[in-house]
Amino acid sequence: MNNASYNPANTAAWNRLLELASETQSSDKGIAINQLFQEDSQRFEKYSLKAGELKLDFSKNLVNDDIWEQLINLAQQSPLETHRAAMFAGEKINNTEDRAVLHAALRSTESDALSAEEKARAEQVERQLQAVKAVSEEIRSGSWTGSTGKPITDIINIGIGGSDLGPKMACTALEEYAHERINVHFISNVDGAQILSTLKKLDPETTLVSIASKTFTTQETMLNAKTAIQWFKDKLGLENPKNSAHFIGLTANPEAAINYGIPKNQILEFSDWVGGRYSLWSSIGLSIAISIGFDNFKQMLDGAREMDLHFQQAPLEKNMPVILALLGIWYSNFLNAQSIAIIPYCERLLLLPSYLQQLDMESNGKSTSLQGESVSYNTGPILWGQTGTNGQHAFFQLLHQGTRLAPIDFIAAVKDNLSNPEHHQVLLGNMLAQSSALMEGQAAPEGEQHRYYPGNKPSNTLLLNELSPKNFGALIALYENKVFVQGSIWNINSFDQWGVELGKKMANSLLDQGSSASNLDASTKALYDYIDEQS
Ligand code: F6P
Repeated sequence: MNNASYNPANTAAWNRLLELASETQSSDKGIAINQLFQEDSQRFEKYSLKAGELKLDFSKNLVNDDIWEQLINLAQQSPLETHRAAMFAGEKINNTEDRAVLHAALRSTESDALSAEEKARAEQVERQLQAVKAVSEEIRSGSWTGSTGKPITDIINIGIGGSDLGPKMACTALEEYAHERINVHFISNVDGAQILSTLKKLDPETTLVSIASKTFTTQETMLNAKTAIQWFKDKLGLENPKNSAHFIGLTANPEAAINYGIPKNQILEFSDWVGGRYSLWSSIGLSIAISIGFDNFKQMLDGAREMDLHFQQAPLEKNMPVILALLGIWYSNFLNAQSIAIIPYCERLLLLPSYLQQLDMESNGKSTSLQGESVSYNTGPILWGQTGTNGQHAFFQLLHQGTRLAPIDFIAAVKDNLSNPEHHQVLLGNMLAQSSALMEGQAAPEGEQHRYYPGNKPSNTLLLNELSPKNFGALIALYENKVFVQGSIWNINSFDQWGVELGKKMANSLLDQGSSASNLDASTKALYDYIDEQS
């Protein structure tokens, strides 16, 4: 099937999977996961694999050998492999924006570059990376001083979406490696309470603001930057703070940053072929390099590169991103699951679910095919989650006894230098107990139906040897590549985000014209007027 006529729902594998799904859901032929273990003593070995220091167990899924074979067939019958080659080769696979998708080039090495074009790109990436190294090292060593000559103690990253979530998550996850003197703060929301209460706690003499924005036009970011500029004017009496050592710009639009007034040598660029939600590997990651040090930042890139190589080279059935993607497709498209839960048993991965929300939902929340037609099947799931064990005391009730199918990814680190053996054992013991209880279930004692655990609830378990920068990089690249695989099979463009434009446009017209904005619906007009009256 050539790409122009590809529709996953027309493949032989998709149609066979529909039949297998109806068997899976039938009461007599249905699958019991714990039964599959009894029938096959090798199930764990067959349905688990290692990539670098990441171990994935996917044996606790509603998948038998027939289903698994058809899921692999589906990947083979889709344009996944040609699409993957096209992405890594720099073809313009983001068709609605006419752009290449090359975040993987940010973590590749010069030796990966074969053609002249790739070599030139690798040199450009290296120059940009060296700028991150130089600036982060100056700040960490204390030689980058504020306007009164004091070393920097606080960095404020002002950005939103991909210009916030990735760096914020990485700095939290890699806290073990954080610089002792320097604190990193993240301001994203246009809610003034966030920036004003942060500024209140800081000393402007030792504070540096990095304005992180791919476009350098985002409303929230520019308003927060304006407030920060005013703060420096008020507190330090600086006439033009943007032009001082207190401001840095991180952007793919250096002209806009220069016009805004940031000195050229304080602008760290990246290329427009880096999507916002894939930008933590670029200069948008400056706050990460400042916090954990450039060498650790580089380790993070190396871990991601290793995952990219695994993704490009491993056969489909031994390919971690492909496996996660196919399981997600099985649940979304054949067993009608609406969501995927991400539950890290590691408090430092607290922000992983919000990060993955943007990665997954902004990438695959689409309903138009690459050929510009409406798709007839479900695409990206609703992604949600929070850390265990906290979640156990909140929403796990529904996971065990509710009526919905909610597949889960459990994630944990085998070793944790910031914890101690007692805590860590209890933490991991809880995670294993949950995945087992969800699968095994339990019969109710006579007359006590409320104590019935149906079981047969699927989950993956992903274990990192430890939460090192390298393993963290591999983990994020794993999910990036998973999202790519799903987008390829669903035949959608995972790299644009037109869905967010309409709301932005309407906000601008409301702000310009108030409740008299043309075409304003009656409910919104009344709410606007109510706010006006009450404020
Ligand atoms: O509105 C969505 C979005 O474009 C995201 O894709 C992006 O990460 C975010 O806004 C911020 O954009 P920028 O980095 O250009 O400020």
